[in-house]
Amino acid sequence: MLEKSENCYRITYAKINVMSHSNKKIGDMRVSGTITVKKPKGKLGILMPGLGAVATTFIAGVMAIKKGIARPFGSLTQMGTVRLGKRTDKRIPLIKDFVELPDLNNLVFGGWDIFEDNVYKSALNAGVLNKDILDKVKKDIDPIVPMKAVFDRNYVKKLQGDHVKKADTKYDYAQLLIEDIQKFKTENNCDRIAMIWCASTEVFMKPDPVHETIESFEKAMKENHPAIAPSMIYAYASIIAGVPFANGAPNLTVDIPAMIELAREKGVPIAGKDFKTGQTLMKTILAPGLKARLIGLNGWFSTNILGNRDGEVLDDPESFKTKEESKLGVLEYILQPEVYPDLYQNLYHKVRINYYPPRGDNKEGWDNIDIFGWLGYPMQIKIDFLCRDSILAAPIVLDLALFLDLAQRCGMKGIQEWLSFYFKSPICAPELYPEHDLFIQLMKLKNTLRFIKGEDLITHLGLEYYD
Ligand SMILES: NC(=O)c1ccc[n+]([C@@H]2O[C@H](COP(=O)([O-])OP(=O)(O)OC[C@H]3O[C@@H](n4cnc5c(N)ncnc54)[C@H](O)[C@@H]3O)[C@@H](O)[C@H]2O)c1
Repeated sequence: MLEKSENCYRITYAKINVMSHSNKKIGDMRVSGTITVKKPKGKLGILMPGLGAVATTFIAGVMAIKKGIARPFGSLTQMGTVRLGKRTDKRIPLIKDFVELPDLNNLVFGGWDIFEDNVYKSALNAGVLNKDILDKVKKDIDPIVPMKAVFDRNYVKKLQGDHVKKADTKYDYAQLLIEDIQKFKTENNCDRIAMIWCASTEVFMKPDPVHETIESFEKAMKENHPAIAPSMIYAYASIIAGVPFANGAPNLTVDIPAMIELAREKGVPIAGKDFKTGQTLMKTILAPGLKARLIGLNGWFSTNILGNRDGEVLDDPESFKTKEESKLGVLEYILQPEVYPDLYQNLYHKVRINYYPPRGDNKEGWDNIDIFGWLGYPMQIKIDFLCRDSILAAPIVLDLALFLDLAQRCGMKGIQEWLSFYFKSPICAPELYPEHDLFIQLMKLKNTLRFIKGEDLITHLGLEYYD
């Protein structure tokens, strides 16, 4: 049942029909309840800890797109469509129209950094976008200056900056961030805010007993416990302020029980982690294809050279370990060696990242893939991806901010697994394994959008066309 009013629409489900293309009911989901979707009124503020290469490429990019001097390639929210009903119905609206996402003109940007550079200067330093395009949006991005950061060098060894806050405890730091969020919201006249972590990768950390409950986490913050990283302080502040949070880096941040519980309690959507770009994007495109055709794998060796600040941070073995863990999990989950031992049990998977300054943000990633087919005959695939990391990451930041805002307007809270599409290490419920296959992730995302709007979910059975 669909009820519409000026500010929202409300869908009441008894159960959801799963339909095939010719509108035959082929199943149902036992979900019941009501989804009230608030319309996107006013401005959405997008706050990012870390105004480096990714964040500035995103902000300057949106400004350029608004001016009509560039196009939002790579963004599902801006260019993607969703098919509704039968294949013959020809109902294929743009996603942004279908679920009523905020217009780019209604976005406001801000963030924190340990360096004082404004977005124009930081974007010039990052060297992703050329000066030509940056000069065309200079007037819009010059005024965006970072707020003072919550930073501790013990968690990012290769960086040192003095644009940082001073407080006695980690709990106090969180309160300062909450004040920043509220001040930003008021000063920019925002209706809602979303926060996306675009700051450096922190050192590898294992879950600690203090991460178990909200109480133990808050106590640990007050005692300056080393298991509380700066990224966790931002995430905590975000959730307490009622602001959806996504983690674009591989560090342990919202993927701990205390944060998941807090997000559910406060009704805040969370997602993560580690933007899926570059080599891992390629892996999650290729590996499902090889597996689909039961092609075996003996080895997958991946190496990268990159010379941006991210590369410099990852030159520290402890930060690299965080990234390595995130990158390695992908193949294991997609290939399911326990289900296909003959094909994938002996896979040797190695990932290397080398800091090489001359390349800047223009990373080069090589993959050597040793595969085998019929009768065990070996073959090889070589990939040389001349990639631009931040060009691939920027549309992800935009999509995550708009989709997290949508989730919040729908009252969806806690882990948003339907946003796995964007992450190298998708967060999911503890009893599940993460879904890494890009195509399953996309189906999950689009079915979630259909679900939100009360449209039938789509399977790809299609037998009814041939009845
Ligand atoms: N570019 C990609 O394709 C990609 C993909 C996956 C993940 N990531 C992750 O996204 C993050 C951003 O990447 P980038 O290329 O923009 O890196 P970057 O080094 O250019 O920018 C990161 C910024 O974060 C700032 N920073 C560090 N700690 C901070 C803190 N505690 N508070 C506020 N600011 C802080 C740094 O000063 C820097 O300006 C990194 O963690 C990276 O690993 C990037």
